Amino acid sequence: MTSTGGEWDASQLREYPFPLENIPRLDVNDPEVGRCIAQTQPVVITGSKLAEPALKWNLDYLQEHLGQCMFNVFAAKGTGHKFMYYDPKKAANCKDFEPQMHAVDMTFPEFVHRFRTSKPEDSRLYLQQALNDTVGTAIVDDFVNFNWSWVTAQQRTHDWGPLTSNLLLISMEGNVTPAHYDEQENLFAQVQGYKRVIMFPPSQFGCLYPFPVNHPCDRQSQVDFDNPDYEKFPKFRNAKGLQAVVGPGDVIYIPMYWWHHIESLLGGETVSVTFWYKTSRIPQTITYPLSPQQKVCIMRNIEKMLGEALKDPAEIGSLLHTLVQGRYPADTRDFMSPT
Ligand code: FUM
Ligand code: FE
Repeated sequence: MTSTGGEWDASQLREYPFPLENIPRLDVNDPEVGRCIAQTQPVVITGSKLAEPALKWNLDYLQEHLGQCMFNVFAAKGTGHKFMYYDPKKAANCKDFEPQMHAVDMTFPEFVHRFRTSKPEDSRLYLQQALNDTVGTAIVDDFVNFNWSWVTAQQRTHDWGPLTSNLLLISMEGNVTPAHYDEQENLFAQVQGYKRVIMFPPSQFGCLYPFPVNHPCDRQSQVDFDNPDYEKFPKFRNAKGLQAVVGPGDVIYIPMYWWHHIESLLGGETVSVTFWYKTSRIPQTITYPLSPQQKVCIMRNIEKMLGEALKDPAEIGSLLHTLVQGRYPADTRDFMSPT
C-alpha cells in the first residue's frame, strides 16, 4: 500500500505476520459503494462530505469551542501504545484482571495541556468521548452541518436501526486500538491526521480468539499482534486481513462483527468521529446456511446463557469441553463458512 499524496509513508506502518490486501477506495457516487455496504464488505468512501465541517477540528479549535465539561480520556499503562477497551462493570467482578489502560476524567484544556507536554513514548493518552449537548455553539453548528442527508440515506437503504452515538476520538500518534469487533454498523469519519485500519471478516473468529463473553475484554482478540503466542493461538497463523489508510475527509465502513485494529500514524494528533447505527441484520427468522455473523451472534448468546447459569468461567469451560469432546467432531470443516 502506498500513499497517494505523500502524506504518510509505508515505514510508519507496523509490521505483522499475516498477509494483507487493500480495502477498496471508492468515490461516494460509485454504485459499488452501495453494493459493498449491502454485502457488509468494508469500503473507504471518498467525497461524501459526511463530517466536512469537522475537518477544522484541530486541538486549538476544539479547545476554544468544546465547552467546559469533563471528557473521558484513557491513559495507557506504563509506556504501552495499546488501548484495549474493557468493560468496567465486568472488570469489577474479575479480581485478577489487569487493564492495559485506565480512564481519567479531565477538562479539554487539561487534556490539551497533557497532550502537548508529554511525549507519546513516555505516557500515551487517547480521548474517547461521545458528542453530547454540552458542546459550544460552534461545534453544534458544525454537527448540524454534517452531511446528514447522505448518512440517513445509507441508514434507510441498508435498513439500519437508529443512530446510537457519535464518538469523538482524539489520539496521540502511534496509539493502537487492538483488534476487536463491535455489535453495531460504523461509518467512521476521519477528520485530522491518518489512521491505518486493519480488518478481518467475522468468518475469522476462530483465528482471532476473542476473550470469553463474560470477560471484561469481551469482543477483543486475545492475540498480541506484536508477539503472537502460536502455541496458545495456533489458528492465528491462518489469519488474513484487509487494510486501508484513511485521512481527512475519508469515511470507512466497518460492518458489524468485522474485526478492526486501528493505528494512528505519525504526524501529530488524529481526530475521528464515528457514526454508530444499530443493525437490523440479525433476522427474526433464521435462514440457512447461517452467515458467520449469525453464528457469532448465536455463540455470544450461548456463552451469555452459560455465564448466567454457571457464573464461574472454569465451570463454563469444563461444561463446554465435556459437551463436545468425543461427541461432536471438530475441524472437519471450517464451521464459520456459510456453506
Ligand atoms: O482507535 C479507533 O479509532 C477505534 C475506533 C473503533 O474501534 O471503532
Ligand atoms: Fe470498534
